[in-house]
Amino acid sequence: MKTKLKITLILIFLAGAGFWLAGRSEAKTGTAAVNTVKSSLRESPRSIFLNNCARCHGADGKGDTALGRQNEVPDLSGGRAARMSASRLNRIVTKGAEKMPAFGKKLTKAQITSVIGYVRGL
Ligand code: HEC
Repeated sequence: MKTKLKITLILIFLAGAGFWLAGRSEAKTGTAAVNTVKSSLRESPRSIFLNNCARCHGADGKGDTALGRQNEVPDLSGGRAARMSASRLNRIVTKGAEKMPAFGKKLTKAQITSVIGYVRGL
């Protein structure tokens, strides 16, 4: 009788552990799915540029916009931005320069790195 009780208890325990483990792995899969959705919703470097920079620098980075001409924005295209060091670009975008607004509070560090990568490819 006692052994039977023990076996039953062990079985109940194992079933519980199994359910617990299954629940955990399901939760993990759920998190992975959420992360995939999040990263696909994350702005592309191009959309960060279009949303924040293009009004002055133009979609092509040449600065041929009304605001660009008014503020005499430098041409970023043709590898001009690519020739500037990453740390200089980072400083300009984060802190601003002359009439160039600072983006350190508006964009996250990751967004700034991302948009700089984009600008360097213009
Ligand atoms: C309100 C207009 C405006 C917006 C918006 C703007 N910029 Fe600028 N940007 C300027 C001006 C003006 C300069 C020139 C600053 C100077 O005289 O040093 C400049 C300079 C720069 C430079 C340095 C180029 C060089 O040759 O010295 C980079 C790089 C740059 N901007 C990138 C960006 C990025 C990236 C964004 C968006 C996150 C952005 N800018 C948004 C106006 C703007």
